[in-house]
Amino acid sequence: MNPTDLVFQSYGRCCRKDDFFVDFYDFFMSSSEAIKNRFLNTDMTAQRHLLRNGVMQIILAARGMSDRKLRDLGESHSRHKLDIKPEWYDFWEEALLKTVRLHDPDFTPELRQAWREVLKPGIDLIRGAY
Ligand code: HEM
Repeated sequence: MNPTDLVFQSYGRCCRKDDFFVDFYDFFMSSSEAIKNRFLNTDMTAQRHLLRNGVMQIILAARGMSDRKLRDLGESHSRHKLDIKPEWYDFWEEALLKTVRLHDPDFTPELRQAWREVLKPGIDLIRGAY
């Protein structure tokens, strides 16, 4: 199986559990006080749903679908709007990989590598629009 198929299936297993995005934001927000502060006024129930879709957009773009929605995210996260610092994306990726490891019963080091490969172009695109 190629990396995008492995990740697509892994994400399906992760999304079966409601706790996945709760745990993701717990890990992500505990990685830095500055990141935590960005979500002080956020409706986290809505935010978890938005992120569920955002990660799916990264995977779909890696599978050859349009990256239009990722370019919109690049715009919303840029210095002109949300002003999300480029260095924060490393925390984001680490938190996501940690959450996948926790929730996917079929997690292996190879699967982790596949996730990193699949996430990279999407993260680079959003971060690169800063
Ligand atoms: C590639 C990684 C990321 C993805 C896929 C992603 C996805 C999303 C999505 C789908 C939204 C809602 C739509 C929008 O506002 O455009 C959003 C909003 C937001 N994101 Fe991200 N994001 C990422 C990285 C980050 C990082 C690193 C931070 C750092 C703090 C961050 C902070 C925020 C904030 C503060 C909001 C707005 C929350 C609110 O409405 O109060 N995001 N993100």
